[in-house]
Parts: sequence; structure tokens; C-alpha cells
Amino acid sequence: MEANKDEECGGNIKQLLAQMFARSLKGTFPNEAYVQPLIAICNENFGDYQWKTMPEFKNPRSVGEAIMKNLPKSDMIESCSVAGPGFVNVVLSKTWLAKSIQKMLVEGIQTWAPKLSIKRAVVDFSSPNIAKELHVGHLRSTVIGDTIARILEFSGVEVLRRNHVGDWGTQFGMLMEFLFEQWPQWEDDKEIPIKDLQARLLQTIQKRFDNDSSFKERAQKAVVSLQSGEPKYLKAWAQICEISRREFQKVYNRLKVHIEEKGESFYNPYISRVLEGLRNEGLIEESEGAQVIQIEGETIPLIVVKKDGGFNYASTDLTALWYCLNEEKAEWIIYVTDVGQREHFEMVFHAAKRAGWLPSDDNAYPKVTHVGFGLVLGVDHRRLRTRCNEVVRLADLLDEAKKLSKQALVDRGKAAEWTEEELEETAEAVGYGAVKYFDLKDNRFTDYTFSFKLVLNDKGNTAVYLLYAHARICSIIRKSGKDMEELKKVGEIVLGNTHERALGLHLLQFSEIVEEACCNLLPNVLCKYLYDLSDYFTNLYNNCKVNGSAEETSRLLLCEATAVADIEFDYVTELDNLDAY
Ligand code: ARG
Repeated sequence: MEANKDEECGGNIKQLLAQMFARSLKGTFPNEAYVQPLIAICNENFGDYQWKTMPEFKNPRSVGEAIMKNLPKSDMIESCSVAGPGFVNVVLSKTWLAKSIQKMLVEGIQTWAPKLSIKRAVVDFSSPNIAKELHVGHLRSTVIGDTIARILEFSGVEVLRRNHVGDWGTQFGMLMEFLFEQWPQWEDDKEIPIKDLQARLLQTIQKRFDNDSSFKERAQKAVVSLQSGEPKYLKAWAQICEISRREFQKVYNRLKVHIEEKGESFYNPYISRVLEGLRNEGLIEESEGAQVIQIEGETIPLIVVKKDGGFNYASTDLTALWYCLNEEKAEWIIYVTDVGQREHFEMVFHAAKRAGWLPSDDNAYPKVTHVGFGLVLGVDHRRLRTRCNEVVRLADLLDEAKKLSKQALVDRGKAAEWTEEELEETAEAVGYGAVKYFDLKDNRFTDYTFSFKLVLNDKGNTAVYLLYAHARICSIIRKSGKDMEELKKVGEIVLGNTHERALGLHLLQFSEIVEEACCNLLPNVLCKYLYDLSDYFTNLYNNCKVNGSAEETSRLLLCEATAVADIEFDYVTELDNLDAY
């Protein structure tokens, strides 16, 4: 068969092989319409990848032989063999792998980005409630959501990074009255710390509301005044939101997370109109005084207007979804919250399907996905708490991470080598990077145990370990004294031995891994890639001399490619500027 034109160097190996096997299938069985060929990584004793035969083939072994024979000629494949049950094993060509890496070095890692079929997505993440502090529970949503946004952006999708903060609702009545009472100067006072506001709130406000009837009455009236747009109340509400916003932003800055606020209040003016539309479609019914949408398979309906006529979390989310689809024309809307909110989102999604906003096929676009995650546990296997049994503030957790990683640097003598500023910067990057990586490295559904000993361990599967490996690569390159920009163009990569080949193959798997992480919204897939990359690199480094060897040019280029792939994952660990670490 004539050569396949598509299989230029680089790209997604699985996809390239699938195209070749599709052509072979078509050539072998011209009259049959077969499903997309299934290509998987195979046991390294047999090859690199494998085409899995399909159950409809009666004589799989001879089918395998025929499929193998009819594969288009390609520079990509070195050899093929047929395994027992008719599978076709493929060994990729070392030259093709080497050329592909070289091409990426010259043209940029962007050429390895997966191509997704959508243009715009909304990622709803972090989304704390006003007048409360970011705590360790928000860590997961913030870090997982940011990573998902980053990989989608890397893949060419425009991402609206949404902070759906809880900034509306009856609780603001209490908050405003409390503000007036505790800080009579509230209008000028920009210095009311959220910590104060929250601490006093927690202790007193609910009690006041329950026991002090005049406070309760004032708070209820305050809600009405706010909702009818009375300036004093709007101003107090804005003031409370601003205090929280400032505090949230400090944490986002530390985590290098970019997010844009469109809180619950934003959707308030749209809710009536959206519900009106649903009412006209006959979707909303009356039930025990409330207005509800029945959801197939659920015993409880989705309440969209409460008995008292007020709107709720669900009516806001339904309206926000309508807004994303109609006003923002988003094709994929992703919600990152703990698994506890799964049911809420499932019900909202069902209602949207009933309304015809979303296709009934879950895989078709526009699509909605709830990205759930498990809990952060303490060493006692219960929800992580402080010694005083309080929720752990995210700011405190980050302070501690920084402090401990700074201490580790000092212990390694860095205080004498570096300026205080360098020490601080590195301690932050390592400490915060380690917290992030630890949160991302396991399947997000599982609960994980947080302990600084594990998070900052420089030998385990941690960002600290990965940073060491990265720093080593940078130092090898630096020591060579070579101009890498020049070397990329004139040097040649040769994957001579097994260590070089293993690293080369892993590098080429970048594209399919990012695609898998994107499509399944699983950041841990990236972490595993990064960790394995580090391992393959360490193997090469431990077994083969780089600087001053006959293979120096090729190996330096491999180092460079590894560092580039690493850096592209800086959404996981913030590796930048840590060459000297
Ligand atoms: N504010 C909510 C909470 O703290 C999370 C909001 C998630 N996003 C949404 N669109 N409901 O639990």
C-alpha cells in the first residue's frame, strides 16, 4: 500500500496508528464498515503499541496477518508482529521518534497540543462563599479547576475561568445588620478583616438570629431592602463582598491562579425570565407550595422557587447554565466541586436536558460535566482539622508549606548561597507547588491524607522530587556551555540505547496523555506522566554520561526536550525560574 501522508513526525501516536490501521482495515475488508480501530500501549516485550482485534473476526490470527500486511508503508513503524489472538504489535522506529522530538524542539511544544473540537469552555471552580474564608476544602476545587483550565487552554480552547461565588441570599441580611452593629464606621472602614468578620460571625450571628427576635426582624427586613435595591444596603453588601474578595485574591495570587468572578448575584436579574421560559414549556409544576421541576428517576424534584417565593441555589445554577449556553456560547461547561454536590448538578443537568438546552446524548456538545473530588484527610483519617479542631484556613496551610520548605533549603546550606529574596521565592514555589501537586497526583475521586512530611518529601512522588530532577537537567545543560538554540537546529538526536529510546518514546506520548487528561478531566494522568518522565530521565542520567561523551549533542537535546515537556506542565508545579534549585 502507498505511504500514509498524514504520519509526519510528531503528533498523537495512538491517533496516527489508528489512521493507519483504519486504512488497512478498509483495504482488507473493503465492503465492511468497521468501528474506529482500538490502539493501546502494549507490554514492552512485544512492542510499543498494539492493535486489538475485534470479536466479529472469526479467524483472528489470519485477519491479524492480513491487517499487518496491508498497513500503509510508513517511516513511523520499524516492525510489526502478530500476537496469539490476532493482535498486531507495533515497534516504532527510533529514527522517527528522534526526528519527531527534534521537530518539536524547533517548532515548539505547542505542536504537540491535542486538537479538541470545541472553541469555548466555562470552568466553574473555587467558588467560595462571601464572608467565609478559603479553607482546605477549597484547595481541591481551586487547584483541580485551575489545572483543567490550563490544559484546555494549552489545547487551544478559550476558557472562561469562573468564580461562582456565593454572594447573594438571605444570609446577607444577618451580615449587613451585623456590620452596622459591630462597625458603625463601616462605610469608611476598609480594614475590617475577613478573619474578624468570620470569627465573630461564627460565634455570634446565628445565635443572635435565633435568639434575638429584634435582630432577626432587622435582618429579614435588610434582605428585602437589599433586594429592592436600597442604596445603603447595596453599599453594605458591596462592602462585605469587597472584604472577602480582597482576601480571596491574596490566596489566588499565592497559588498563581487566575479566576474571574461572576457570582450568584450576577444571575439574579435573569432568573425570572429563565423560569418563565421553562414555565411556558410546561416544565415547572406546583408542589407543596413550591415550584419544582420533576426529574426522571429521582424521588425528589428540583425546587426552583421556594415556598416563600424566593429563589435558591438550584434556580441560580439553572440560570447560570442558561447564561453560559446562550449568552456566552460555551460548548463545554465544567463544574469543579466536592462529590457531595454531584446530585445537585445531576438534577440541574437533567432539567436542562428536559428543557432541550442540551442534547440527550451525553457525549455530544454542548456538554456539561461535574468534576467531583474526595476529601482532604488528616493523619487520623478524618477530615483535616487544626489542633483546636477547626477547619484549616488555606492561607495558614500555605504559610506552613512555605515555612517548612524554607527550612529545608536552609538545612541544605542555601541561606549562605542565596539572597533572602531568592530563598523566599524558591521556598514559595517549592512549598506551594508541592501542595498543589500532592492534591493532583491521585485520582480526584479518592480522599487523600495530607501530611507535610509526605507533601514535602524529596524522595517520593512529590513536586519536590520532580523539581530536583528538573534542576538537574538545567544544570547539565548549563555545564555543557552549549547554545541550545543553535544545537536544536544543527545537532541530531540519536536514540542509541534502551535508556535513550525509553525516554524518547515517553516524550512522544505527551500529546496523547494531554488529550486523555483533557477528555476525561483527570489531572492525575498528567502527574503520572511527569513522574514517569522524571524516572526515565533519571535512568538515562544514571546509566549514560552526558557532558563530554561522544553522544553529548544528542543527549543534551534529549535533556532539553525533557525540560520543555516539564515546563509545559508548570500548571502542575510552577517550575519556572528554578534552574538553580
Ligand atoms: N459556593 C458553593 C460552595 O461553596 C460552590 C459553588 C459551585 N458552583 C456552582 N455553580 N454552584 O459550596
